[in-house]
Amino acid sequence: MIEQARGWLGAARRVAVLTGAGMSAESGVPTFRDAQTGLWAQFDPQQLATEEAFRANPTMVWDWYAMRREMVAKVEPNAGHRVLATFAKRHPQRLTLITQNVDGLHQRAGSVGVLALHGNISEDKWLDEPKACCNASQPAAARPPYCKVCGNLRRPAVVWFGEMLPLETLAAAEAAAQECDLMLVVGTSGVVYPAAGLARMAAGKVVIVNPEPTELDDAADAVLRGKAAQLLPQLLED
Ligand code: APR
Repeated sequence: MIEQARGWLGAARRVAVLTGAGMSAESGVPTFRDAQTGLWAQFDPQQLATEEAFRANPTMVWDWYAMRREMVAKVEPNAGHRVLATFAKRHPQRLTLITQNVDGLHQRAGSVGVLALHGNISEDKWLDEPKACCNASQPAAARPPYCKVCGNLRRPAVVWFGEMLPLETLAAAEAAAQECDLMLVVGTSGVVYPAAGLARMAAGKVVIVNPEPTELDDAADAVLRGKAAQLLPQLLED
């Protein structure tokens, strides 16, 4: 199966890659659906990763993201992240990387032009439309930081449940899916739209890389049952 996928890759002029939390699993970042156990069991992303939760309890949500930022800062990109970056460097203009992950590991592995559909956990933005006062000076150092004049809060620059995805990023991802000869769908359960929908609009062959069955398996031309950090190097290394 992997030889067949390598053949499709070799023949593909344009490759789109859609990654999810499983891409970072071998870097030690728990996936969302795994994170309901252990350390994160106390936090339910569906409850906390919302504007409503943040407005209701800004310090608790801010602290949850601070904990995740600290954890992500301590992990490293894995062989899967690295081989995607290397392949794109070796084959300019051929690979478009689309990720649902907010951990920034693709970017730290050297991938450029990453279409980060759900934003980046290490960046902040204003909760409400910023006024002149908001950007005039440093926000007050608090959890979360706030504008000392109007009280506007800083929030993580990620897409929360119920929020719109960045339209330009989504449009670029849809174009990449519709123009590709091959789409690799790596480490995603395929349960969250519109990201998961990209695999269903792929013009080319769809190859899934995942140790478990996913909601997108029926849309795949090939399913490679295994881990990203092991299978992507076998697939992408020239
Ligand atoms: N290699 C590849 N895939 C893996 C690995 C691995 N080593 N380990 C786990 N997986 C797979 C799991 O089998 C699962 O299918 O990664 C997938 C992770 O699925 P989710 O936890 O649902 O993460 P994801 O699909 O990225 O979630 C999508 O939902 O919670 C929201 O916004 C959040 O971006 C997230 C979105």
